[in-house]
Amino acid sequence: MKSVLVTGGAGYIGSHACKALLAAGYLPVTFDNLTTGWRDAVKFGPFEQGDLRDRGRLDQVFAAHQPVAVMHFAALSQVGESMSDPGKYWNNNVSGSICLLEAAVAAGCMEFVFSSTCATYGDQDNVVLDENSAQYPINAYGASKRAIEDMLHDFGAAFGLNHVIFRYFNVAGADQDAEIGEFHQPETHLIPLMLDAIDGKRAALTIFGTDYPTPDGTCIRDYVHVCDLVDAHVLGLKWLEQGRGNRIFNLGTGSGFSVREVIEQSRAVTNREVPFVEGPRRAGDCTKLVSGSTRAEQELGWAPTRSTLDKMIADAWRWHQTGHYSD
Ligand code: UFG
Repeated sequence: MKSVLVTGGAGYIGSHACKALLAAGYLPVTFDNLTTGWRDAVKFGPFEQGDLRDRGRLDQVFAAHQPVAVMHFAALSQVGESMSDPGKYWNNNVSGSICLLEAAVAAGCMEFVFSSTCATYGDQDNVVLDENSAQYPINAYGASKRAIEDMLHDFGAAFGLNHVIFRYFNVAGADQDAEIGEFHQPETHLIPLMLDAIDGKRAALTIFGTDYPTPDGTCIRDYVHVCDLVDAHVLGLKWLEQGRGNRIFNLGTGSGFSVREVIEQSRAVTNREVPFVEGPRRAGDCTKLVSGSTRAEQELGWAPTRSTLDKMIADAWRWHQTGHYSD
């Protein structure tokens, strides 16, 4: 069985990628420092604990598992925190990625799938966000991811490192079997916070800003189901194995929903009221992020089947009620 090194495999998206990789016939080797990931989420292959900035540890893991490719999910990813503590983001995300890219090249592991973000585009009113859109990130998180994209370009030119870059829109939902799901501590994302408010684990959801220039005043995002998202990664890996070259793909559905619309849909799916209060804007938030590209469908053959808002909320709700991690 071919091994794939999955950095951040103990995290939300990385753990779902491990499940999809195993189902597709690859052995996912999780590399994670467990600062935001969970040992309990590593269920589909070996676990190697380590920090990406520890080159010696990375060299050991490449030597032990001889992966054919890297899927690089490990990163700090909270927009708000990246604004209050930018150095933490540049250090963890960018320094860790430099070390990883150098270790991959040294090990001769030349296929690389990278988890980037629509936050690299920034706030661009009335612009269709496709892969050729300019990138003007307005938060340190997005800036750190854009820097890694640039690095991949340079490593491709210098060493022939082949890469697929996925720019995610807002990832939501959970595994169909609720074996794994979204679990952050502290939680900062809209849907899990809303589910907490619905079942009384927190008093109320705060809507961050009601004065945005959108129809109902709240931010608009393009939500994509985590299982659809990781399916694209397996297709991206195959794309690289077929020698199809370096490529960037947006992963979103092209449909945007406001915070108020997500609240309303959650009420409908759970059949419970959503306690919420209106608060000020959160630093670093873009008004609207919606993908305007069908490149992943057309070129990769990606066919998202679960990314309707009700399905994503229903799957997140099932996980919320049954699953959690403890170590
Ligand atoms: N929101 C609230 N209240 C909350 C939490 C979120 O109103 O308590 C709002 C935010 O202001 C935003 C929307 O809900 O408008 C979604 O917020 P999330 O924190 O769930 O997601 P973000 O859009 O901030 O960030 C996520 C990922 C990033 C990714 C980004 C792209 O965390 O990695 O999507 O939009 F880059």
